[in-house]
This record gives sequence, C-alpha cells and structure tokens, in this order.
Amino acid sequence: MKKREIYILGIESSCDETSAAVLLNEKVLSNCVANQEIHKDYGGVVPELASRAHQSNIIPVVEKSLSDANINKNMLSAIAFTNGPGLLGSLLVGNSFSKSISLGLNIPLISVNHMHAHLFASFISRSDFRKPSFPFLGINISGGHTQLIIVKDFFEMKLIGNTLDDAIGEAYDKCGKILGLDYPAGPMVDRLSLQGNPDKFSLPIAKVNDFDFSYSGVKTAFQNLIIESKLKDSNFIKNNIHDLCASLQKCLVESVIKKIELAAEKFSLSEIVIGGGVSANSEIRKSLKKMAVDKNWKVYIPPIEYTTDNAAMIGIVGYYKFIHKKFDELNITPSPRFKI
Ligand code: KG4
Ligand code: ZN
Repeated sequence: MKKREIYILGIESSCDETSAAVLLNEKVLSNCVANQEIHKDYGGVVPELASRAHQSNIIPVVEKSLSDANINKNMLSAIAFTNGPGLLGSLLVGNSFSKSISLGLNIPLISVNHMHAHLFASFISRSDFRKPSFPFLGINISGGHTQLIIVKDFFEMKLIGNTLDDAIGEAYDKCGKILGLDYPAGPMVDRLSLQGNPDKFSLPIAKVNDFDFSYSGVKTAFQNLIIESKLKDSNFIKNNIHDLCASLQKCLVESVIKKIELAAEKFSLSEIVIGGGVSANSEIRKSLKKMAVDKNWKVYIPPIEYTTDNAAMIGIVGYYKFIHKKFDELNITPSPRFKI
C-alpha cells in the first residue's frame, strides 16, 4: 500500500528567528529562516523588537516556504507551531497566525514544544540516514537550555539534568560579548578558536551534582581574567583573541562531553541524540564523533541547518503528532515556560 502523503507546515517564532517549513511526511521540502539582524545593535534579543519583526516577517516567510516546496496551501494536511518555551510576544505571533491558517483551511492545529523539536531534528529524513532508536539519551544545548533527557518514546521523556543558572549558549554569548564580539557570539568564538591554543588559559568547569550544569562561574572567571590581564596589556584581547576563544571553547565543550559520558554509562544508553544551536559547534561535533568510535555508541548530530532555530524541526514533531492524532483546540495559549 502506498504511504499516505502528509504535508505539514511548520512555524517557528519563539525567539529571534522567524521560520516556516514544509514537510512531506518525514522529508523537508522547504525550510525558510529570517534572522533578525536588529538585535546586534543591542548585544542581545530585545523582546518587543523580536515580536514586531515576527509580525512583519511571518507572511513573506510562509509564502516563500510554500513556493520553495512547490505546493499550494490547499494541499496542507496540518499546521504545527512552536507554543513554547520562548518569549511571549514572539510566541503569540506564531500561535495566532497558525490558528487563523487552521481555521481558514479547516486543517488540524498542532502545538510543538521547541525543546522537543530540537531533539527530534535528527529524525528528519535525508540521504544516508538512519533514525535514532528508542530509548536514547537526549542532549539539548542552546541559547536558553542545557538539558539531559532520557527519551523512551516520541512523547515519553524524562529530564535528568538541567542548568542551574545560565545555558551553555548564553555562556558562549556572554563571554563573546566581553571580547567585543557581536550577538550571538557562539559561532564566532567557534571560528576564532580554530587557530588558538586551548591550553593557554585555564578556566573552571563547575562541579555540580550528577547531571546538572552551571555556567555562571566560567563567565565570572573569564571576565576576571580579561579585567586583570588588561591592566598589564591594554591590547590583551586583540593579542590573544584566538587563544582566549580556544580556551573558552575547551572548557565549555568538556563540561558537556563529560556529563554525556556519565549519563550514558549510568543509564546504559548507547544511542545518543544531540540538538540545539550549540550542537552546530565544530568541537562538540568532533568530540561526539570520537566518543561514538571510542565507546562504540551511536551518536546522532543534526545537519547544521537543523541545529539553530528552524521550522523544519517543528514540522517533524508536527508530523509525529499528526500520525498519533495529537491535535490542539483553537483556545490554546502560548506557554513561555513550557517544560519538556
Ligand atoms: O537553538 P538556538 O538557535 O536558539 C535557542 O533555542 O536558544 O541556539 C542559539 C545559541 C546561541 O547561544 C548561539 O551563540 C549558539 O546557539 N551557537 C553556537 C554555535 N552556533 C550557534 N555556539 C557555539 N558554537 C557554534 N558554532
Ligand atoms: Zn532553539
């Protein structure tokens, strides 16, 4: 029997990317992302400006995703949208837009947890691809979260570790800001670190219980290092930028890799799935691939375009919710603190 063709329109608007994607079953037909450059001037996301930008971006981005996918809106089977966690004003744009599409086209409305979507980005079908199998150890590393999760099935998961303060992406961004880099600084720290010595400066990895994380200490240590060193050399940052980035990167990457190893061993999980913007990091990807070989584990790392915020990952969760008939009512409101 021929597999039923299900077209899902995915919408992502939780923070500072407005994105729309079209999926045909588990395959992405289009994935359009409008980044909001305006926040660069402020060194971080300004919530009110983000909601205004979503409001002006959403229709053109959705139209582009439909035309890139070469489909007509009447072919859509359902609309899936991020309903949290995220900024309330930003979430409201995607939430109300999706409700109106659902109502206008008379198709099911599906709400998606943004962190759930980051984890399931590895389920998006592509060539040379093998889907993760349950149960697996999930790791979400992003600008707002650092989480370790035991995933038993599509909709059954348990959070076993979390950050006690800043998220790992926040540590990249805040330390990058101290170096004078634009927001978000993670990708630039990653790039600059490639030519640096990771052992030049020693930074502390916080010792916290079991599977939790903490990044406020490394940020303070990094700030103190810069302040003290600048007293002796006013060009300290410029003269050491590559080594500073490489040393920071080493500390942040080690903090995650160690906890992944600990959790996988304790819970005897040999399938490991990573997601979130920081999983685009070159050193994390390299260390995970090495871990997979050394330990004989299977590690799933999404393609770069599905690591940072995008609607394709919302669409894939939308697809699984569609086939399990997990639909929402039109009175659903955003959940800025949606838990996994
Ligand atoms: O998942 P995401 O797009 O948004 C959230 O849900 O938070 O993650 C954004 C975070 C930012 O902190 C950004 O600096 C970080 O991901 N990031 C990186 C890299 N690419 C993005 N951090 C380190 N290395 C990268 N290559
Ligand atoms: Zn995200």
